[in-house]
Amino acid sequence: MNKFENEIKDNLDLKDVKNKRPSKYAGLDSEGISLGLAESDFEMPKEVKEQIIDAVVNGRYHYEFEGVPEFLEAAKEKLRRFNNIDAEEKEILPIAGGMNGIWLTYKVLLRPGDRVIVVTPNYPPIFGHPKEVSQAEAVEVKTKNDFHLDIDAIEKAISEKVRIISICNPNNPSGAVYTKEELEQLADVAQKHNLLVFSDELYENLTYDGRKHTSIASLDSMQERTITVFAFTKTYGMSGLRIGYLVANKEIVEKMKAENSRVLIHPGTIEQLAAAAALKKCNYYVEALRSYLESVRKHFISKLNQISGVKAALPEGTFFAFPDLSFLFTDDRKAAEYLEKEAKVRVYSGSGFGRGGEGHVRMNFCTTKKVIDEATERIHRALMLLGPRRLG
Ligand SMILES: Cc1ncc(COP(=O)(O)O)c(C=O)c1O
Repeated sequence: MNKFENEIKDNLDLKDVKNKRPSKYAGLDSEGISLGLAESDFEMPKEVKEQIIDAVVNGRYHYEFEGVPEFLEAAKEKLRRFNNIDAEEKEILPIAGGMNGIWLTYKVLLRPGDRVIVVTPNYPPIFGHPKEVSQAEAVEVKTKNDFHLDIDAIEKAISEKVRIISICNPNNPSGAVYTKEELEQLADVAQKHNLLVFSDELYENLTYDGRKHTSIASLDSMQERTITVFAFTKTYGMSGLRIGYLVANKEIVEKMKAENSRVLIHPGTIEQLAAAAALKKCNYYVEALRSYLESVRKHFISKLNQISGVKAALPEGTFFAFPDLSFLFTDDRKAAEYLEKEAKVRVYSGSGFGRGGEGHVRMNFCTTKKVIDEATERIHRALMLLGPRRLG
């Protein structure tokens, strides 16, 4: 039995998971199951917990304006080893989670009236924040039907005002893992039109069926023009610790650091030490989680496909299933409402993730097979009640 099944079986039941994850379960009654918020049901690695205690005991909780050296060094080493990105310390910025990196990118690099091409479906702040942060405009460009990049459509959307092309790879919500070849084509377009690329790579460790994650910044001449965001919130089960890092060229990092210092001075010293421990000591944990989720994914998708009217593709990465329910519901928001009410299972509606998400719902499967089985059975029963009707 895999480590994750063991841990959750021995130490955690669903009640415990719910008690410790109030936001994931907010508004659900005691029977509810949340496959909504993108958060792991697993405990963070023990090495990270030990590091946090060690940091407290040894007084490492003071200002460290230049970034915690152990973290910068661990990030540099991991970038070289895993992402094939050769970055200096001055090109790495500790951030308070992935969201901080999205905000900084749009705050520092956009002016009112600028445009950002966002490949959708995507994590909502990636297309929502340009306007909210800088009065810039997001131009949503849908992926192809298989959720891979539509390079022609991206190139057609480029105008004088476009500054950045934004992607999320592996993709939340579709689970698509972009191939090196398609990223090379995107890189050619960015270079030809002299654009920056923003790449959210929070799910870099979760790729399946032998797929390898490629960072677009590792491709020829792309490091200078790419801002890549990584965080510990998803795969290490550390969502409340608010820690991640960003890689970009020195000038951009300098500006972002100055901007962040006005808001939060710097991400917590203890969090940075915890993140260093995750990078240095927890490869085993990430690999165990990945291989566990790989098997949950197959199990979950095959169960979903047994429900008449549900079409679920095997996600290539991440911990999301993104089934198409358009045969059963004319509006995916109604599908999510129906499942929460009738099945007591929370899922997110696909259209919230922008163009191309319509008709789908997102289901987070970073939990035990037991919870997945219970949720799928309830979904099955609730959808059977619909009969041949097509709702809302
Ligand atoms: C693709 C993506 N980017 C960023 C975030 C925000 O993550 P964090 O909690 O690290 O700020 C999320 C959270 O769901 C996400 O899925």
